[in-house]
Amino acid sequence: MKPVILDVDTGLDDACALLLAARHPGLDLRAVTCVGGNVGLDDVVINTLTVLEAAGRTDVPVGRGAALPLLQPMRAAPHVHGVDGLGDLDWPRSTRSPSPTPAIELLRSVLLDAAAKNDPVTLIPLAPMTNIALLLRTYPEAAAGLREIVFMGGAAGIGNATASAEFNIWTDPEAAAIVLAAAGELGVPVTMYGLDVFYDVVVTLEQASGLGGSASADLARKLIERRSELYGAAGASIGDGGAVCAVIDPEGLTTRRLPVRVELAGSWSRGRTIVDSRGSSDLTSDPYGVSPTVVDVATAVDGSRYAELWLSAVR
Ligand code: BDR
Ligand code: CA
Repeated sequence: MKPVILDVDTGLDDACALLLAARHPGLDLRAVTCVGGNVGLDDVVINTLTVLEAAGRTDVPVGRGAALPLLQPMRAAPHVHGVDGLGDLDWPRSTRSPSPTPAIELLRSVLLDAAAKNDPVTLIPLAPMTNIALLLRTYPEAAAGLREIVFMGGAAGIGNATASAEFNIWTDPEAAAIVLAAAGELGVPVTMYGLDVFYDVVVTLEQASGLGGSASADLARKLIERRSELYGAAGASIGDGGAVCAVIDPEGLTTRRLPVRVELAGSWSRGRTIVDSRGSSDLTSDPYGVSPTVVDVATAVDGSRYAELWLSAVR
């Protein structure tokens, strides 16, 4: 089983990712950490506990992390995820408490333990990367327990929060820049599962109608129905769930190794991931005084293969 940690701002599509990570027999979900993003941190924590309960995984420790981005105010997305962040579904909300251990301490301890056992973990950030930036700057030694980082965020093409920027990076650009820089310095491989593939793993309403008979399957169906309703379509992308699919089944993802920087200034481009696809032979050339981190950027995905993978795990 592949050990993984998810960092989430649950979120309808984070919920799709959590159900998959909690239920797939090939993954060993060691911890989930929460950060403010799609909704405020209190709702993110409740939603995360709620989804893990539906998946029958109350054993997974949930850490409470950063409520706010490093530098700028929070700008939540109730128009995409509902006021409570989980689509305001008719679904009982968890009354459990998260772990008393804060997110970066939980991450540190799970990662150091993994390093000691020589069993490194894949970290899957699906949200603004505030927790991960704080972790890697506070406890860089924890990187010894990281096999790789596969994050949902950014875009080589157009954005969603703005014409230029994707929501997770736009919410905390400084954190994303720190994570990319730290991963480069510490030698942690990074895959960017960005908007170029994010919308391409679609579960149709017809496929979702076959889900039922367990709390996990019922919730999975409701998530697809609600997301379809919000997008006005006959199906919905599992969004962040696709990044978890990419960890389970990397063959379904096409990537290109490219230098990536995060735009921290710019009037209309702050939070953009600048993906340099000019095809230079020296990927780390440094004309601006800041070396880019070379990242495996997702360029295409086998959507039907990943949709089937998700359906079979949450069913
Ligand atoms: C990302 O932003 C959030 O709204 C989603 O949960 C996803 O992580 C997509 O831009
Ligand atoms: Ca998310």
